[in-house]
Amino acid sequence: MSAHAPPEVRPLITKERLAARVAELGAQITNDYAGRRLVLLSILKGSVLFAADLAREIALPVRMEFLGVRSYGADTKSSGVVQITQDLTRPVDGDDLLIVEDIVDTGLTLSYLREQLRSRNPASVKVASLLHKPARMQREVQIDYLGFTIDDVFVVGYGLDYAERYRNLPFLGVLEPSLAVEK
Ligand code: IMP
Ligand code: MG
Repeated sequence: MSAHAPPEVRPLITKERLAARVAELGAQITNDYAGRRLVLLSILKGSVLFAADLAREIALPVRMEFLGVRSYGADTKSSGVVQITQDLTRPVDGDDLLIVEDIVDTGLTLSYLREQLRSRNPASVKVASLLHKPARMQREVQIDYLGFTIDDVFVVGYGLDYAERYRNLPFLGVLEPSLAVEK
């Protein structure tokens, strides 16, 4: 598929499929948010590539904000308790917030974030997530704009990492843990 694919990553979704789906989501968002005060709230770091591409597919004057979060607990597991490591640069009261996530796995991070953001008095809060792994869902969270539903596998690329690596792969792949190099 790609000359960039390392041997431990099995390609799952090509960059062409990603681009096509992101364009569809962008068109839908453009339609739904016409005349609104749309703020794309990209959750660092995993959603950055998705958010950058999605923003370019939205034909509206959007604002972009970034929220740095760290989940307490083990590396690949979410505890649902989230520490804000980097806050918004401007208030969002009265704005239409669209949270942009890379993946909803257990749903714990997103349900916590939704709750936290409510106190900032936005006009509305919706969610766009590139991926959803329903097999591991612990908390029901509504995803208003969803890219792809995937099986319970660990994926990397297009912003998603394993130990901070692989984020720059232009496609999504399944990481074969036995072959992963940790540095
Ligand atoms: P949740 O609270 O379990 O929904 O956690 C979501 C977060 O866990 C995501 O924003 C990712 O940072 C991380 N995550 C969950 N599954 C994967 C995966 O398959 N690959 C990379 N990161 C993942
Ligand atoms: Mg991560």
